[in-house]
Amino acid sequence: MYKKKLNTNNNHKHKVFAIANQKGGVGKTTTTINLATGLAAVGLKILLIDLDPQGNASTGLGFEKNERQVNSYSLISGESKLTESIKNSKIPNLDIVVATVDLLGAEIELIDKEKRGYQLDEAIKQSNDDSTYDYILIDCPPALGILTLNALTAADSVLVPLQCEFFALEGLSQLMKTVEMVRLTFNPNLKLEGIILTMFDKRNNLSEQVAEDARKNLGSTVFDTVIPRNVRVSEAPSHGIPALVYDYKCSGSVAYMNLAKEFIERESNFLR
Ligand SMILES: Nc1ncnc2c1ncn2[C@@H]1O[C@H](COP(=O)(O)OP(=O)(O)O)[C@@H](O)[C@H]1O
Ligand SMILES: [Mg+2]
Repeated sequence: MYKKKLNTNNNHKHKVFAIANQKGGVGKTTTTINLATGLAAVGLKILLIDLDPQGNASTGLGFEKNERQVNSYSLISGESKLTESIKNSKIPNLDIVVATVDLLGAEIELIDKEKRGYQLDEAIKQSNDDSTYDYILIDCPPALGILTLNALTAADSVLVPLQCEFFALEGLSQLMKTVEMVRLTFNPNLKLEGIILTMFDKRNNLSEQVAEDARKNLGSTVFDTVIPRNVRVSEAPSHGIPALVYDYKCSGSVAYMNLAKEFIERESNFLR
């Protein structure tokens, strides 16, 4: 049902989301993996692109280092095409372009290139097989360098995980400026579609305060669903499976499933 609607969107068939925040450890990778899994679970076809040299999303989905000969570096450097770079994950409907530390080189190599902001966008658009996926989710590194710039240029929308802790909102204004800069230069249609509150700890007043501030300042951009701090969520990556598969009943998984539902609702309202 969703598919038909979604495929009428835009001139290309899939919608691309960059999951970005220049701060490390705020839940980008966890959100990318589990939102992707939640969307895949309801039958949407999802491609996750791991664009972090640390490769945490690749590890979190169970890809060993020796399974990463084609990867997001070979993709953006033009050595491999999108279709050649994709691997099936263990999760039905969820495919991935894995990452390696080679990506660190891209930060440097692309600096001199005239098209340095467009490499990923071109690699995605060149693929003539663009009806395969409903959504492409790009897991960004914790920096506002060339890799994140590539993700924002390729994206239709940005999702920002915001950890419920002190200084969370300060980093956000810097990210907003970057999004604005990308709009003015590389990608005028880029939207800031959603802020996702992560690692919410109900025993901590600060968590409540950050959540309140975020909703006051950013209004409906903030998803209603809040992701709680939950130890099961942090255990899952070492098993190479999403939290949603590791323990689908834990509070973190329930929240990520709700996030996927809310995401789909927002998408269908958006298209209406
Ligand atoms: N909801 C959560 N509850 C508990 N731990 C979490 C949660 N979300 C993320 N973590 C853990 O916090 C750390 C940072 O999360 P991660 O998603 O890797 O952040 P980022 O990609 O922004 O650097 C990881 O060890 C992860 O397992
Ligand atoms: Mg990460």
